[in-house]
Amino acid sequence: MKIELSNNKVFYKNGTSSEEIHPFWLRERANGEKHLDKGTQQRLFDPTSLDVEVQIKEAQIKDQILEINFNDGVNSKLDINLIAQEFSKKDIAVHSIEKIKWDSSLKSIKNFEFKDDLFESEEMYNILVSFYKYGFVIIKKVPTEDNYLVKFANSIGSVRRTNFGEHFNVKSKPNPNDLAYTSLPLAPHTDNPYRNPVPCIQILHCITNEVKGGFSTLVDGFTVTEILKKDNPEFYDILTKVKVRFKFIDKDIVLEDWSELIKLDEYNQFKQVRFSPRLDYVPILEKKDLDLYYKARKKISDLYNSEKYRIEFKLQPGDLLMMDNHRLLHGRTEFDVNEGNRFLQGCYIEFDSTEGKLRHLKRKYNL
Ligand SMILES: [Fe+2]
Repeated sequence: MKIELSNNKVFYKNGTSSEEIHPFWLRERANGEKHLDKGTQQRLFDPTSLDVEVQIKEAQIKDQILEINFNDGVNSKLDINLIAQEFSKKDIAVHSIEKIKWDSSLKSIKNFEFKDDLFESEEMYNILVSFYKYGFVIIKKVPTEDNYLVKFANSIGSVRRTNFGEHFNVKSKPNPNDLAYTSLPLAPHTDNPYRNPVPCIQILHCITNEVKGGFSTLVDGFTVTEILKKDNPEFYDILTKVKVRFKFIDKDIVLEDWSELIKLDEYNQFKQVRFSPRLDYVPILEKKDLDLYYKARKKISDLYNSEKYRIEFKLQPGDLLMMDNHRLLHGRTEFDVNEGNRFLQGCYIEFDSTEGKLRHLKRKYNL
């Protein structure tokens, strides 16, 4: 990618192709102190009030800086490297972190350890990068007093409050309104598929774990859906197309949202999985389509529940697990309540929290 000038026009060259950059695109990036607030980088002018036919009177490139005089009297100096970055058309900080697919053979994942100044440290950046690579990260020795989990979450961004409260306590209780509050095993699932939007990240903090069972389980939905795409394309196809209803009913609220079990982005790439087979209801389709849908759902359920894709580990007191609820499925093995206490606290945060923190730390440490 190269920026070049010719006859008061600015071109970007990519390989053999050369395209003119619209003068107005450059004009609305005018960045002198009269045009741009230094702190917020917000415009001090409204570009929609300008003439879109603006022309370049003079332009030169010197020391990687493109200096332009426009015919409306404005002068602007733009860093050509920053202009080149804009051609990726994506947020670079987060989207350049490549997802690493994993299955049960995943062994050597790095755990991190809590320290007092963690949230503003370079280590926090590494934690977030690891989270985006694997879809989860474990931080050990996080203080367990006074709902520290909430403080932790709010030090990255903001807790997403739900009708379960700011945070929730996962321990068996009488008359549970969710299977999470029993000692039964929990098959791999994603949380709250009936919410709009679905909470992005679940944080689980282990306060006490005295039982022999009660292992945490994780499955990478990205790995599994890519396997399905390769081995059973007709199943993959229908699960990425049919929107099903997810519903949750409690005495004060009825939550409902409709989505594909595998959601793709605008480039037909993996975006999100939802899986919670106690809550999903497919609409009435032609019998042959439902036949395919049910076979496909069974297949993906078998894959999600297969030992081949599942990792299992026991959370110790202080361990804090952050997991991507749009990518990973989680569950737990059964435990015996008579053996002792098992107490986890959980809450949700959104991707804007982790993405915002990651970009901030990248800027702060010049990474
Ligand atoms: Fe859950």
